[in-house]
Amino acid sequence: MPRVAIVGATGAVGTEMRRQLALRDFPVEGDPLYLASERSAGTSLPWKDGEVEVQAISADAFSGVDIALFSAGGSRSKEWAPVAADAGAVVVDNSSAFRMDPDVPLVVSEVNPDAAAHRPKGIVANPNCTTMVLMVATKPLHDAFGLTEVVATSYQAAGGAGMSGITELLEQTAKLLAAGEETLRTDGAAAEGSVDAEVFSKAIALNVLAHCGSFADERYTDEEWKLLNESRKILSLPALRVSPTCVRVPVVVGHAIAGRLTFAEPVTREAALAALEGAPGLVVEDGTGQDGEPLAYPTPLASAGRDEVLVGRIREDLGDGHSLNVFVVGDNLLKGAALNAVQIAELIAAE
Ligand code: A2P
Repeated sequence: MPRVAIVGATGAVGTEMRRQLALRDFPVEGDPLYLASERSAGTSLPWKDGEVEVQAISADAFSGVDIALFSAGGSRSKEWAPVAADAGAVVVDNSSAFRMDPDVPLVVSEVNPDAAAHRPKGIVANPNCTTMVLMVATKPLHDAFGLTEVVATSYQAAGGAGMSGITELLEQTAKLLAAGEETLRTDGAAAEGSVDAEVFSKAIALNVLAHCGSFADERYTDEEWKLLNESRKILSLPALRVSPTCVRVPVVVGHAIAGRLTFAEPVTREAALAALEGAPGLVVEDGTGQDGEPLAYPTPLASAGRDEVLVGRIREDLGDGHSLNVFVVGDNLLKGAALNAVQIAELIAAE
């Protein structure tokens, strides 16, 4: 049985990684190793019926580790993932540090599981949460109709920025609600300016920010570039056209993506539903509430805590017989991060 370490065990994704390892009965030799910063060293966190003490990350910590799950931010991964790999561990890295490295596979367990076996650096990358959620729903449609273009607008939860993002959303919300309905209705700029915005660029509470991550090339954000580059790599479609807009919304956990998918083959709603039926890790929730149908479409709030990606609002494009519009939702901490990392670890443990 593998000896397992979790780097960033105290964080939002690390917490889910610990839960997923236990819930899925991942075979772990002894107790897993919980690693974080000096700040958390000496504190204890649950593992099954007991607790495990958190240790500060160090080169010695990786000795004897077979699988190391990393979610402590890109700079920690850049520094420590090669150290862990040199010590003999296979690293499953949730940061963006190695995702576009040609010698590092980028794996969604339902989409390209075989890629995990070819890892010259001993590192497997876990995709960006928004891309991951979109890929689970897109792959079966790509297999059936041949994907050529994606126009995607994301609605990303505050929890995508870690525990501190969730705290900032909740604290700002409490402050704005205390300011009262009249201020919110008549002087929004004052309300927006009245809260401390540290994790996000402006007030995220009761608001929508057309800005996830940092601004980068061509006036797109790094989060938008991830959606383009990572989709191409995961689907092995280097020429795939992707038009991304990533938006932060005041949701604790659960990312949504409104996507217009264009295919080489003509596509109908009926054929799309047939292609999606039984797709791994995916649930179709799609009904208008008319003609006896249930009203069914996924929401981020209801996706929180669920393993599956959910897809609804499946519609033929109004002008183009090769395009579909869909609304895809998934728990960004689970399938968007920790669950997929543990599923990759399961693929590695089964080799
Ligand atoms: P710590 O709690 O000790 O700061 P999140 O994504 O929720 O913000 O979590 C980030 C994770 O990365 C936490 O587990 C955090 O540990 C860990 N981390 C942050 N800085 C370091 C560091 N310098 N060395 C090791 N782990 C770190």
